Amino acid sequence: MLSSLRGRVTVAFLLLIIVCLVLLSTDLLFFVRDQYQTSLRSDLRALATLAASQLESSASADGPPSDVNSAVARLAQQTGRGIVVVDQRGQVVARSGLQPDARTDLGAQPEIAQALTSAEDERAVVGTGEGWMRAAAPLRTQGQTVGALEIVAPLDPPAALRNAILVILVGLLLSGLLAVAVAALVVGPTSRAIKEMTRYARTLAQGDLDQTVTVSSPDEVGALGTALAEMAARLKETIVLMAEEGNKTAAVLTNMADGVVITDGEGRVTLLNKAAERLFQLSESRALGRSFIEVVRDHELAQLFRSASQAGDPWAPSTGLVEVGTPKRSLRATVTPISYGKSARTLVVLQDLTELRRMEAVRREFIGNVSHELRTPLASIKALVETLEEGALDDPAVARRFLSKVNVEVDGMSQLIRELLELSRIESGQTALRLEPTEVGPMLALACERLQAQAARSSLQLRVDLPEPVPAVLADEERVLQVLLNLLHNAIKFTPPGGRITLSATRLEGEVAISVSDTGVGIASEDLPRIFERFYKADKSRASGGTGLGLAIAKHLIQAHGGRIWAESEEGRGATFILTLPVAH
Ligand SMILES: Nc1ncnc2c1ncn2[C@@H]1O[C@H](COP(=O)(O)OP(=O)(O)OP(=O)(O)O)[C@@H](O)[C@H]1O
Ligand SMILES: [Mg+2]
Repeated sequence: MLSSLRGRVTVAFLLLIIVCLVLLSTDLLFFVRDQYQTSLRSDLRALATLAASQLESSASADGPPSDVNSAVARLAQQTGRGIVVVDQRGQVVARSGLQPDARTDLGAQPEIAQALTSAEDERAVVGTGEGWMRAAAPLRTQGQTVGALEIVAPLDPPAALRNAILVILVGLLLSGLLAVAVAALVVGPTSRAIKEMTRYARTLAQGDLDQTVTVSSPDEVGALGTALAEMAARLKETIVLMAEEGNKTAAVLTNMADGVVITDGEGRVTLLNKAAERLFQLSESRALGRSFIEVVRDHELAQLFRSASQAGDPWAPSTGLVEVGTPKRSLRATVTPISYGKSARTLVVLQDLTELRRMEAVRREFIGNVSHELRTPLASIKALVETLEEGALDDPAVARRFLSKVNVEVDGMSQLIRELLELSRIESGQTALRLEPTEVGPMLALACERLQAQAARSSLQLRVDLPEPVPAVLADEERVLQVLLNLLHNAIKFTPPGGRITLSATRLEGEVAISVSDTGVGIASEDLPRIFERFYKADKSRASGGTGLGLAIAKHLIQAHGGRIWAESEEGRGATFILTLPVAH
């Protein structure tokens, strides 16, 4: 009960009322009793004096009057008090009305004794004892004290007066209870409102911000409730905003190409984004709480991290190139000490330069290849020209032969440069494809027809094998034909006499696969993944002519069509090149 506001207010009021009532009633009782006794005292004194003088008038010289009994009875009835008359020795002569006792010798009774011996001018003597008030007056005749009269009355107020007091107290008690009820009624809504707000605050604390509170109390508590609801609304807005910001940051971090690692002041990882997870092959959940070195497992990077965090200067981040993981990846690491709030943290950004490096290497290799491809014919042209200069020019037959050789070399170089230009045009997307629905069968037949003579010269059997009809493809016929001729050229080049070359096509899901297979020398498994690279030639085919650009061009052309191209082969068992093209709808 005491735990609620309402209970405490009720109990406090009750206690207050009880204490007040107790104090008030004792006070009232004493006051009433005092007042009563004071007036009783003067009443009794006056009555005793009056009654004594009445009796005196009819008294004889040696004692109270003979009809004293009836006089006393009359007096007792008139006054409503107990009356006793004694003689000179204190022996009861007559009594009537309510008496404290029935003794017959009252000589020792102090008031009576005093009245019997009092001086002439003294009248009534009043005293109290054993719950009674007594007023004694001497009875005198001719100056002689012949006896005494005593009037007695109980000290306690009469029942009527007590009842009146009780009625007042009960009235007070009832109004007190009424006050408690009113207080409880007044406090009730406030108490309910506070309870409601408490429940609401708890739901807020549990993170449920969708609840609302309606406090109907019109007082300060109501205002508090409104303020609470407003606060929750603001809080919700702020949390939503913060969550949005957090989501944005998380999305940026997750989708960043660079690896990001954040550590706390002790160097323990508190964040590892997706790119960093991939770099270190470790999930964020396993990395959290571990030390930086444990996560990156790289001495150089750890050293860089240590020196930057020790320097602690956010304006001077440490940058370094490191290689981590297997296979090794080249990273540019930037370590920046940051601080937000009170805590110091360290931000590590890892930029993966592996691909950039590889591209650079490819470019260098490409330039080397081109230079090499040009240097060989140039060197032979130079040798031919020198020989001509040194006198061969004088022999017209030799001169013609040399010049025709020069011509062949120049043609070779022109071809190389044409192919390079074409490759670069396709790669940079400058070659516009004229895509049209193209029938596959006639295209294969055309390619076959074009190289039939060349195949026959090399004693090779070249044919189209189309077991089932295939749908038309969306393609630039000219370009696809170029690719097919390229593949057929290779097949002829790498198949010894007596072999077979077959062109075929099958239907796949949404596309058509065209294959060129031969029964030639095949491709070693270590060469297979690289033959589509520019200038790549398997060692064995170094001797054969060609620049090694044919397949690179083919790959780019097919990819520009939205198709794929790959080779399947085993060394010594021929090769099959397969390309796919989308079906025309
Ligand atoms: N049908 C095949 N059988 C065996 N090896 C092949 C076949 N086709 C291609 N290759 C291998 O792939 C390499 C690359 O072929 P690609 O067509 O790109 O160059 P190339 O034919 O040597 O020169 P280019 O086509 O530029 O004249 C060849 O040098 C050869 O080693
Ligand atoms: Mg080729």
